[in-house]
Amino acid sequence: MPNRAIYPGTFDPITNGHLDLIQRGLRIFDHIIVAVAENPGKKPLFTVAERLEMIREALKDTPNVTADSFGGLLVDYVKSQNARVVMRGLRAVTDFEYEFQMAMMNRRMEPEIETVFLMTGLRWVFLSSRIIKEAAVHGGSIEGMVPELVHHKLKEKFGFLT
Ligand code: PNS
Repeated sequence: MPNRAIYPGTFDPITNGHLDLIQRGLRIFDHIIVAVAENPGKKPLFTVAERLEMIREALKDTPNVTADSFGGLLVDYVKSQNARVVMRGLRAVTDFEYEFQMAMMNRRMEPEIETVFLMTGLRWVFLSSRIIKEAAVHGGSIEGMVPELVHHKLKEKFGFLT
C-alpha cells in the first residue's frame, strides 16, 4: 500500500501554517491528499471550489500533493482513497482536546485508520484560518501569513488595501 496520508480540514482559507505542515508531512509520506471538508454546518467564507483553487495554486510547484474535497465522514473518504493515515497539525494545548476526540471517534468507527499529528512550525503556532479572517474583515494586515492568491481573494471579499 502506498505510504500516503489524507490531510483533512476546512481550509477556509489555506494559510502558511497549513503549507508548513504539508512540507513536514512530505518528509514522512510519499503523497499527501489535502482534503477539503464540504462542512456546510460551518458556514465557510469561501466555497469548496474557491478553497480548492487557492490550495492548488499554493501547491502548484510542490510535487506529491493533490487536493480534493469530500462530504460525509472522513473515515469513509480515507477508505475510498485506499489510504490508512490521517494527518493533522497540532499548534498548542488548546488544539489537543478537539483533536483527541476526533481521532478517537475516527478510530472507533474505523480501527484500521491511524491519525498522525505533526507539530506546526513555531512561527505559525498562533495562526488559524479563523484569526486570518478576523484580521482581514477589520482591514488588518495579513501579509506573509497566507499564500498570494488567498491574500488577493481576501482583499476582494473585504475590500481592504494592505
Ligand atoms: O480544519 P478543521 O475545521 O479543524 O477540520 C475538521 C475536519 C474537517 C477534519 C472534521 O470536521 C471532519 O473530519 N469532518 C467530516 C465529518 C467527520 O468525519 N467528523 C469526524 C468524526 S465524527
